[in-house]
Amino acid sequence: MSSLSVRIAGMDLDNPTMLASGIMGETGPSLVKMAEWGAGALVTKSIGIEPRFGYSNPTLVELPFGYLNCMGLPNPGIEAFGDEMSIASTANIPIVGSIFASDEDGFAELAGRMEDYGAYAVELNLSCPHAEGYGMELGTDPETVRSIVTAVKGSINIPVFAKVTPNTEKLVDVGKAVQEGGGDAVVAINTVKAMFINVEMKRPVLSNITGGLSGPAIRPIGVRCVYELYEALDIPLIGVGGIENWRDALEYIMAGATAIQVGSVLGRKGLDSFREILGGIENYMNISGFNSIESMVGIAHE
Ligand SMILES: Cc1cc2nc3c(=O)[nH]c(=O)nc-3n(C[C@H](O)[C@H](O)[C@H](O)COP(=O)(O)O)c2cc1C
Repeated sequence: MSSLSVRIAGMDLDNPTMLASGIMGETGPSLVKMAEWGAGALVTKSIGIEPRFGYSNPTLVELPFGYLNCMGLPNPGIEAFGDEMSIASTANIPIVGSIFASDEDGFAELAGRMEDYGAYAVELNLSCPHAEGYGMELGTDPETVRSIVTAVKGSINIPVFAKVTPNTEKLVDVGKAVQEGGGDAVVAINTVKAMFINVEMKRPVLSNITGGLSGPAIRPIGVRCVYELYEALDIPLIGVGGIENWRDALEYIMAGATAIQVGSVLGRKGLDSFREILGGIENYMNISGFNSIESMVGIAHE
C-alpha cells in the first residue's frame, strides 16, 4: 500500500502538497479552508513588518496559460496577522509563515514573531519580482541571501525555508548560499518576471508595467530549477510553479522535490485540485510499485 506522507526538514506531512504563498493564505479562515480541501501544509501570504496596500489595480491579468500579477505584497502587517495565525492553527496541519523584509534584521524580527505565533517553519520570500527593495532584489545576490538566512537561523528555533527566484543566472549560487547559511530547505520557484500589452489600449495592462507570471506556462522553468538545485544541494527542495495535476507534481518530485506547493490552479481549476493531484499520485504509485514519495524524489537524475 502506497503512503503519501513525507518528512521534510523535520516537518511531518500527511501528503506532499502545500498551499503556495499568496493564494488563499491571507486570512485564518481561508487557510483553514485549504486544509479542509486536502493540503498537507499551509504557507501564509508573505507578511511584512508594517501593513501594506500593494499596487493599485489592475494587478492581475488572466492569460490562457496562467496569471500575471503585480500585487506588490499587500498584507496586514505582522502585528495584525497574529489573529489570523491563531485561527489557522485550528487546521491542525503545519503552518509555514512566509515573510518579507528589506534587510536581515527585518527578516529576523518577523521570523521571531512567526515562531511566537506557532508557525512550524518560516519561508523567506527572497523572490517576489514586483516589490521594490524586497524579494528578488535581495534574492539574486548570494552574499545577501547567505547573511539573511544566517541571521534568521540565529534568531529562531524553527526550520527556515528560502524561496528563490528563477529570474537570475545565479540560481545555483543562491541555493548554495541558502545551504551555507544553515537554511533547512529551498522552495523553487516564485513567479517569472513578465509583461502583457493590450494592443487595443496600446499599453501594458498592469499598473506596475511588469509582474510575475504563474501557472502552467512556468512549470518547465520551475522543474529545470529544481533539477539544477538537486544536483548542487544536500538540503531538501520544495517545488512550485504551474502544478495543475498529478503528472505536473510528479515531474517536480522526480526532478528532486520532496514536497510541492500549489497556487494558481486553485483559481484556475478550483479547490478540489489538492485531492485530484493526490489521487493521481497515489494511483500512479500503486500501478508503478512505489510505496513512498521519497522513493521517487530525484529519480529523473538516475
Ligand atoms: C496572486 C498571487 C500572489 C502571490 N503572492 C505571493 C506572496 O505573497 N509570496 C510569495 O512568496 N509568493 C507569492 N506568489 C507566488 C506563488 O506562491 C507561487 O510561487 C507562484 O504563483 C508559482 O506557483 P503556481 O504556478 O502554482 O501559482 C503569488 C502568486 C500569485 C498568483
